[in-house]
Amino acid sequence: MREFCRRLIAEIGDASSADAAEQYSQHIPVHGICSMLGVPESDADMFRDWIYRNFQLAPKDLQERLRVIAEMVEYASAALADRRREPKDDLLTLIAHAEIDGVPVSQDLQVGYVQLMVLAGIDTTWSAIGSGLWHFAQHPDQRARLCSVENNDVLWVQAVEEVLRFYAPVTMARQVIGETDVAGCPMHPGDQTLVTFPAANHDPAAFDHPEIFDLDRERNRHVAFGLGIHRCLGSNLARLELTVALQEWIRAFPNYRLDPGGSTTWASGQVRGPRNIPVILS
Ligand code: HEM
Repeated sequence: MREFCRRLIAEIGDASSADAAEQYSQHIPVHGICSMLGVPESDADMFRDWIYRNFQLAPKDLQERLRVIAEMVEYASAALADRRREPKDDLLTLIAHAEIDGVPVSQDLQVGYVQLMVLAGIDTTWSAIGSGLWHFAQHPDQRARLCSVENNDVLWVQAVEEVLRFYAPVTMARQVIGETDVAGCPMHPGDQTLVTFPAANHDPAAFDHPEIFDLDRERNRHVAFGLGIHRCLGSNLARLELTVALQEWIRAFPNYRLDPGGSTTWASGQVRGPRNIPVILS
């Protein structure tokens, strides 16, 4: 991941400005997922297209959702069939031959695993990296502190956890299965709810001064990765990518800042994060 980040930075070279999302953050997690699955990096644009259509267009257009799902199922089925014929040392091969208690995992579930890797592992992390880049672009004092310590310093751990708490990019949904009430609000079976992890991360009952982005926050039990049995499976990969991406960028461009002539655009909805971050580099 570090080498990959350095390659992206080398491509920016001596330019005096850049788009930190288009030229950097959006490429990093997709590289991680492509390498893990064992698919070519040239599939990355297609993955990003599915993510855009699935999270930005499909909530208002069911036909679009069905089209995206059909394309993903076709892609995953072909890739899994390929690994059944010709196993390799990758996650696709592991999924294609997976068993639970000695029983082969069904084709539908295998396809689902591949889809989930693409939908859960890419724009979530790219949103977190982008939010961190956007934040530190506006806080030279915090950037300077991070630059002054080694990569394995606890300050980096605190910085990454605080980015995750403050900018928590993911909101999930649940369906109520039993009569209950939450803080006096009655809820009935079948009701749709949003589990707003970002709001929980700003709960004054859980965090001292939640409105402050605090690099020195030592106790940070945020819920950016969810809670319970569905808690994020990729949280440590996400943390690794976020840490490495921020370290490499901030060290390469210690004086970067938001371009006053440009504007940051944000994806909204279930996964929230910057899609364009125009910055001045020197
Ligand atoms: C900063 C980046 C990330 C954030 C904020 C994030 C957030 C979340 C959240 C909130 C959930 C819980 C869903 C729920 O309770 O229903 C979740 C689930 C999941 N995430 Fe992540 N995620 C990130 C990165 C990743 C990565 C890199 C991967 C894969 C490599 C991944 C794979 C998954 C999977 C497979 C689940 C489903 C787990 C289950 O249902 O049992 N995530 N993620």
